[in-house]
Amino acid sequence: MAQIIGGFFTSHVPAIGGALAKGLQQDPYWKPFFDGYPPVKAWTSAVKPDVVVVFYNDHGLNFFLDKMPTFAVGAAAEYPNADEGWGLPIYKTFEGYPELSWHIIEHLVNSEFDVVTCQQMLIDHGASIPFELGWAEDNDRTFKLIPININTVQHPLPSPKRCLALGRAVAEALESWGGDERVVVVGTGGLSHQLDGERAGHINKEYDTFCMDNMGPDPDAITAKSSLDIVELAGSQGVEVLNWLAARGAIGGDVKEITRNYHIPISNTAASTLVLERLEAVPAE
Ligand code: DHB
Ligand code: FE
Repeated sequence: MAQIIGGFFTSHVPAIGGALAKGLQQDPYWKPFFDGYPPVKAWTSAVKPDVVVVFYNDHGLNFFLDKMPTFAVGAAAEYPNADEGWGLPIYKTFEGYPELSWHIIEHLVNSEFDVVTCQQMLIDHGASIPFELGWAEDNDRTFKLIPININTVQHPLPSPKRCLALGRAVAEALESWGGDERVVVVGTGGLSHQLDGERAGHINKEYDTFCMDNMGPDPDAITAKSSLDIVELAGSQGVEVLNWLAARGAIGGDVKEITRNYHIPISNTAASTLVLERLEAVPAE
């Protein structure tokens, strides 16, 4: 079975890519945000995953409002990055792992998650920015990527309960895999933010703290609210916390917190970082 080491959760605001390109890490606006990432980079360098499973939401690059899968799993040999209009640099293409993707897909469909399978998939800022933040520049990023998309954009959205269950089914798939690869799970987006409408700029620190406090020890507590409740609480894009819930499910087991950071605002977003490590890494068979 694969060894699930833990998970890294982060906001994915596109402006971060612009700040990195301009070297603004020490700028007073950006410093409290970027200061959250050295412990994350130390952790990813130490655990050196062979495989990363990233849960994120596509922002109109692969799927637009005309065709919107609820859950879509990448099964490609590689995942090129592309910019859906933010003017970001184009980052390195990620290597895929079709064999493990199909194993996960088989397990998900057998578990009655009728996912869309993607043998071609582009990676947008929702999955590129987290790796720029969480992996050190001298870390060669030799891992293979499995991207899993969750619709947090076009209503009706999946429920928090369903997203946590999806992640737990991915953990089962990893535990029934024949290889012994070291796996890190990544959940991106959130926390509270709303980009448009009358409540543009909406942020809810109290609810974000509730999510960060419960993500490790009691993620089911977060599923007591519906996705529409979360839109109300955290903003129309704050519902990206669904990606975090799925990622938490895919870590499985009990976890300890390695590091966290929370800074308001970066652009319109309550910028949040969390690393959870699985208490007993599942031993290789
Ligand atoms: C912003 C945040 C996002 O999650 C996103 O996908 C795009 C923009 C922002 O705060 O600017
Ligand atoms: Fe987003």
